Amino acid sequence: MYAGCSLDSFAGRARAAQLHPRGRSRFGGCTQNVRDLKELPTAFLEIANVLRRSADGGGGWRLSGADPVPVGGGRVLVECRREAVATGAPAGGTVEPMESEEIVIRLRAAGCVFAEDEAALLLETARDDEELESMVARRVQGLPLEHVLGWVEFAGRRYSIGPGVFVPRPRTEFLVREVAKLAPEKAVVLDLCCGSGAVGAALAEAIGAGELHASDDDPAAVACARQNVQNVYEGDLYDGLPASLRGRVDVLVVIAPYVPTDAIALLPHEARDFEPLSTLDGGADGLDVLRRVISAAAEWLAPAGLLATEVSEGQVRALVELVAAAGLESTVIRDDDLDATVVVVRRSYG
Ligand SMILES: C[S@@+](CC[C@H](N)C(=O)[O-])C[C@H]1O[C@@H](n2cnc3c(N)ncnc32)[C@H](O)[C@@H]1O
Repeated sequence: MYAGCSLDSFAGRARAAQLHPRGRSRFGGCTQNVRDLKELPTAFLEIANVLRRSADGGGGWRLSGADPVPVGGGRVLVECRREAVATGAPAGGTVEPMESEEIVIRLRAAGCVFAEDEAALLLETARDDEELESMVARRVQGLPLEHVLGWVEFAGRRYSIGPGVFVPRPRTEFLVREVAKLAPEKAVVLDLCCGSGAVGAALAEAIGAGELHASDDDPAAVACARQNVQNVYEGDLYDGLPASLRGRVDVLVVIAPYVPTDAIALLPHEARDFEPLSTLDGGADGLDVLRRVISAAAEWLAPAGLLATEVSEGQVRALVELVAAAGLESTVIRDDDLDATVVVVRRSYG
């Protein structure tokens, strides 16, 4: 009997006990403190998962139940029965698949707001129980859902994505929709600071682009983008691009890092902890990268070409000023519901 131990230490001891199963039939009589009745489902799940993992690894054992019995003083007794299966049972063959409800409870306990939706996506994506358990565990640790799934849905399509790569934001679909209205037929599209490449790919798809090129300076982003689009280059801004693109770009989309350095600390932890700073930090006013993009844009744009970018509403005035200082003109398109602000830059609107 394990009396009054924390969930973690309980799980550890339970695991240790599983390594030395004593004969047939039972592993049980574990007591655990709970502060609140709401913790019960999570506690039992953890116990069940310890047993499940053990049964998975060892084979020849069946997990047959985990029954809570209140024993007073905020403690519960958990009877976890573990029964030897007749000879010849394949390893893991007797373990029930993880149920959606279990996953929802674990995700919710970890603070996932859309636990039901996420559980459905994890179940849909995992190829087997082992992968499912690993995905749930990573999500519970706080990894962005898209990094766990290995794909992101953007503008109605799924694109590959992996750890360390910026997850395209739903609000950027607004930029794709608005720019699609302005793009010429068979446009040559350049996605600068492309990350996963999803933005350029979605735009190219929406307008039936003639060519799509994408570039990023982060090798992880470049490798990811290459799974989603062709013609991906690596380098600082325009450095990796083929010279043949000079003066031919009809649509240059650039979602650069635009979070002011001081505002990084205010981002949700998923962004702060799992997206590299280089994908977020735009310097003191958030416009450092865009400043460099705009100063060289005219070299790459076709005569009637346009550049489209996204910033926060508070950055619009400074961006419009720096566009004008570069001898270019801008228009601003705003969607309050999405809190999305797109700035479209041309040589001239005249
Ligand atoms: C905010 S993320 C946007 C990614 C992608 N456009 C999207 O919306 O999903 C910014 C991207 O810019 C890239 N980046 C930052 N500085 C860069 C630079 N100097 N040259 C090229 N890429 C850069 C980062 O690696 C990151 O992938």
